[in-house]
Order: sequence, then C-alpha cells, then structure tokens
Amino acid sequence: MQTLAQYLSAQTISPSLSQLILTLANTSKEISHAVQHGALAGVLGAADSENVQGETQKKLDIITNDMLKDSLAADGHVKALASEEEDFIVPVNPQGEYLVCFDPLDGSSNIDINSLVGTIFSVLPAPAGEATEQSFLQSGRNQVAAGYMLYGPSTMMALTTGNGVQFFTLNPETNEYLLTNEQVTISTDTSEFAINMSNQRFWQAPMQTYIADLLLGEIGPRQKSFNMRWIAAMVGDVHRVLCRGGIFTYPTDNKNPNKPYKLRLMYEANPMALLVEQAQGKASTGYQDILDIEPEHIHQRVAVILGSANEVATCLEYHQQNYNDQEPAL
Ligand code: AHG
Ligand code: MN
Ligand code: MN
Repeated sequence: MQTLAQYLSAQTISPSLSQLILTLANTSKEISHAVQHGALAGVLGAADSENVQGETQKKLDIITNDMLKDSLAADGHVKALASEEEDFIVPVNPQGEYLVCFDPLDGSSNIDINSLVGTIFSVLPAPAGEATEQSFLQSGRNQVAAGYMLYGPSTMMALTTGNGVQFFTLNPETNEYLLTNEQVTISTDTSEFAINMSNQRFWQAPMQTYIADLLLGEIGPRQKSFNMRWIAAMVGDVHRVLCRGGIFTYPTDNKNPNKPYKLRLMYEANPMALLVEQAQGKASTGYQDILDIEPEHIHQRVAVILGSANEVATCLEYHQQNYNDQEPAL
C-alpha cells in the first residue's frame, strides 16, 4: 500500500502543497492520539470559554486548534489561517503561498460520549500582499486541496487535490497514513437520508415537503422506503455518504431568527462540497451550488444539501416550486 507521502509525490501538485498536506496529516496523528486518550489525558469536558459564534468551547476544541495553529506556523508555506475557533484570521508567514481554513474538531458535542469526531480543512491560494480577511473571501472552486480526518474506530483521512477523492487509513503500528480507497465515488441514487429531525417544525416549506415525502415510503410519491442516520458530526455523516451514498442536509430553519443556518461555509461546507463533487455527488444550498458562493465573511454560515447526485437533484426540485418562502439573507 502507498503511504500518503508516496501518493502525493506521484501527483501533479506543487511540492509546497504536498508538504502542507503532510503537515496537516502529521498534526492529525497527534489529535488522534489526544482523542484516543480521552479522560486518561484529561482532555474531555467544556472549557470556560465561548468562540466568536457564541458556542461553548470544549477543551479539545482549544487543544486541537492550538495544535493546528502551531504546526501550520512551522510549516512555512502558510500565509494565514482562519479557524472556527479564532475570532479573526491569523497571519502566519508573509512569504506563504497558501491560506488554510479549518474546523479543528467537528462534532465536538460527541466528544464526551466517546462518539465520532473529526477535523475538516480547506486550502486556498494566497493572493499577493498582506493577508487580510478579504484574502480568504474566495469561492470554494478556488480550493487547491480539501479533506477531513475522522477519529473513529480507525483514524482515516479523505483528501482531494482536484484528482478525485482518496481515503487513507492510519496504521496504528507504523503511525503512517496508507492509501486504502482510490477514486471514491458516491452512488448516484440512494435510499438513505441524514437530517436532524427534531428541527422539523422550524424548516421551510420545500424541506418540510421533501422529507415528508421520504417518510411516506412506498405509499408516497417516491414509491420506496428510506432509512435515516444522524451522527451529529458532519465528518461522520459525510464519510458515510462517500462510502455508501445518501443525502445529508442541515437546512435553513427559523428556530433562532438570528441564526438561520448551522454549518459554516469556509470550515465545513466548502471543503465537504469539493470532496462530494470530486466523488461525482452534488452539494447545494437549495438555490445554488455551495462552491459558487462568493463569501462575505469568514464565519458565514450556509444551508447544506449534499450527497448522491440524483437525490440532491430531487430535493432541489422541491426548492424550485413556489412556496412563497424567501431564503434568509446570509
Ligand atoms: P462543531 O462541533 O464543529 O460545532 O460542528 C457541529 C455541526 C456538524 O458537525 C453537525 O452536523 C451538526 O453540527 C450537528 O448538529 P445538531 O447538534 O443539530 O445535531
Ligand atoms: Mn463543525
Ligand atoms: Mn468544531
């Protein structure tokens, strides 16, 4: 089996991007180690702080954020970084060629129940000149690499550098990522969906109707039965979609009028959308491809509907009906 380094050296990508991906992979090995040790390492539980989005931070949100910040600062190729856990962009190396956006610990509400968590990353080219928030406001189509690491029964990495999606599995004996799945593709059709059903009464009409039709099964317009899964960590749900197809959505809701969307564009939606498109799936807000969004600020949130191409297309047909619903401003 090829190691990650061997895989990268056979790709037509710059040596500096390969080095940056290896830096991210090496840091994820340390994160995996900390996550595995859990209570033994005293890393579980809440920290006494909130992030810029008003969410209570877990100790591991802060620990993993610091690990990534330190390693990306030492890498040399990173001009600046943006993280879900940082209020502002963090300038790193004025000579760096890349900007890195990351969610250091996705699914952190899972950490205290010993369930799936991961790290999501996105790499953008750095524009010339001093890095500012404006430098990061590029559409997801500009990403030169994206991926996630999943800290589950196995630690795995999903990676795209624009040549399809590859899975690597961390060998615990050698501490090396090995290529275990090449050119991962998402099945076009599916009979599995993922949504937090407890928010149902807060969704807009298109999603209400679409999910109601799935739940009707054989006797409804879809004329087949659908299964449901919800891991409460996007990394876990997207990984399942990449493995066996499905549709994953965190739609617009009016539970909190000041926060109509949950998932963050730069740290979650864009990298996952690139992986999904590279695996022949689709990723949309309901009204436009996620990768076409021109970001307005780094912590912006969006509605996400992604997965098996035909199923996402069916869900989008519901959004094209006239339900008199307006998409809330970003
Ligand atoms: P994070 O832990 O980085 O804040 O992200 C959690 C996100 C996402 O991973 C997951 O799909 C969703 O929140 C879960 O939301 P619910 O709590 O509504 O299940
Ligand atoms: Mn997250
Ligand atoms: Mn997070």
